[in-house]
Amino acid sequence: MATYYQEASHTFSEYLLVPGLTEEQNIPQNVSLKTPLVKFRKGEEPSISLNIPMVSAVMQSVSGDRLAIALAKEGGISFIFGSQPIADQAAMVARVKNYKAGYVPSDSNVTPDTTIAEMLELLDKTGHSTMAVTEDGTANGKLLGMITSRDYRIGHVSLDAKVKEFMTPREKLIVGRSTDNLSTCNDLIWEHKLNTLPLVDENDHLAYLVFRKDYESHKAHPNELLDHEKRFMVGAGINTRDYEERVPALLNAGVDILVIDSSDGYTCWQAKTIHWIREHYGDSVKIGAGNVVDPDGFNYLADAGADFIKIGIGGGSICITRETKGIGRGQATAVQEVAKARDAYFEKTGTYIPICSDGGIVYDYHIILALAMGADFVMLGRYFSRFEEAPGEKLMINGSYVKEYWGEGSNRARNWGRYDLGQGRKLSFEEGVDSYVPYAGFLHDNVLMTTSKIKSTMCNCGALDIPELQRKARLTLVSATSIVEGGAHDVMVKHKDTSFNK
Ligand code: IMP
Repeated sequence: MATYYQEASHTFSEYLLVPGLTEEQNIPQNVSLKTPLVKFRKGEEPSISLNIPMVSAVMQSVSGDRLAIALAKEGGISFIFGSQPIADQAAMVARVKNYKAGYVPSDSNVTPDTTIAEMLELLDKTGHSTMAVTEDGTANGKLLGMITSRDYRIGHVSLDAKVKEFMTPREKLIVGRSTDNLSTCNDLIWEHKLNTLPLVDENDHLAYLVFRKDYESHKAHPNELLDHEKRFMVGAGINTRDYEERVPALLNAGVDILVIDSSDGYTCWQAKTIHWIREHYGDSVKIGAGNVVDPDGFNYLADAGADFIKIGIGGGSICITRETKGIGRGQATAVQEVAKARDAYFEKTGTYIPICSDGGIVYDYHIILALAMGADFVMLGRYFSRFEEAPGEKLMINGSYVKEYWGEGSNRARNWGRYDLGQGRKLSFEEGVDSYVPYAGFLHDNVLMTTSKIKSTMCNCGALDIPELQRKARLTLVSATSIVEGGAHDVMVKHKDTSFNK
């Protein structure tokens, strides 16, 4: 006979934290959000820790190299999506590893003959008004000039006019050498009162731009997640089919950690993939696995040797797995059950395996609940897809900016495999949807707001770090009626907040 779980499975919105004693030391400045990313033995330090408990989802519409850099700056990590050819994914990883903090590859480039209309179109797409003018319009073409929004006055210039009529030509530009270190660049920026300094190579081809504001922000990012060579850390998603080719390519590109990306991780294929990695690289290659929603799934992947384990089936905002396949579990219950298994495993073996709550975070406070219930960090898709740095197109719909966000199990994401893997895998049904999300600006501002909320609630619970929150948290289920009481009610709200992250 089938096994029945007696309790209904719950989701985050059905819980609240009850405050604990807040003492003098419980102020946000004293709160640490540092958390382990990979397993470690009792009494030892994990070889990789995150500085904030947030990682970005293994998705085409979320984790590209631009978002990976922005998130590493804040202390989290991205897992570059694996639903692309191996060489393309490795190139994305390499771009993150080769990115020198403060040195930005120019992403808005035009030629002298580009029209003002075309340039404005590009500005709308990238949001960057400082553009390099290169011979061939690429980021590494021969530098012929720079154009910024201060060079032309909209409404006073013809849209058919050419960039060359307004740009600052190369001979009038102050440039640095691509080999200059940041402090030399900064000296040039101050000496010449610049906002942007282009760096060129020995053939006068553009290499990077150094922005005054970025140099300042580099100094203002104490949480940056860096490897021992001071490069940003980055992860990558793999599958259980082509790992023998994909893993070496990603390692070659400098990837710091891998994760097997699947909606159901309780499979012999995941164990085989981990064993293959251990056989070829021992413990030096770090690999997460998942997703699971119960202790059996956790213990299976723990015994297989996973470095961290992801939890969640069917809770993702773009996910229709539960509707199409009838598998899954309420995310809060899944986290609680797996956290119990993780603690029991630690007790029994002395090895602590971090767990990640993946999917279904709608409000910032859901992150705090997930951590309080035992998650070491959370994986977010929709949250990050809304930002400027996410790969999806930014579009104007009904007068508001939106970004595109699509599931890895949607027709749109899965099409690539049909052409590239050549494994005869056909899309038979969809497990995800293609959608829009409200555009929310830059990652930095949003993550800062979210982490301040997490720290503030931790103060309410009398916790100075995540392990203390997990020990002290007191959680209550809420009734459907009290959920209504929790929002604004019985008033006419003047401005409706459509940001989705309260
Ligand atoms: P979100 O943060 O609620 O948007 O959820 C993101 C998570 O949804 C990802 O990390 C994946 O675990 C999961 N996911 C991504 N694409 C799909 C899909 O197409 N179907 C089902 N789940 C998906």
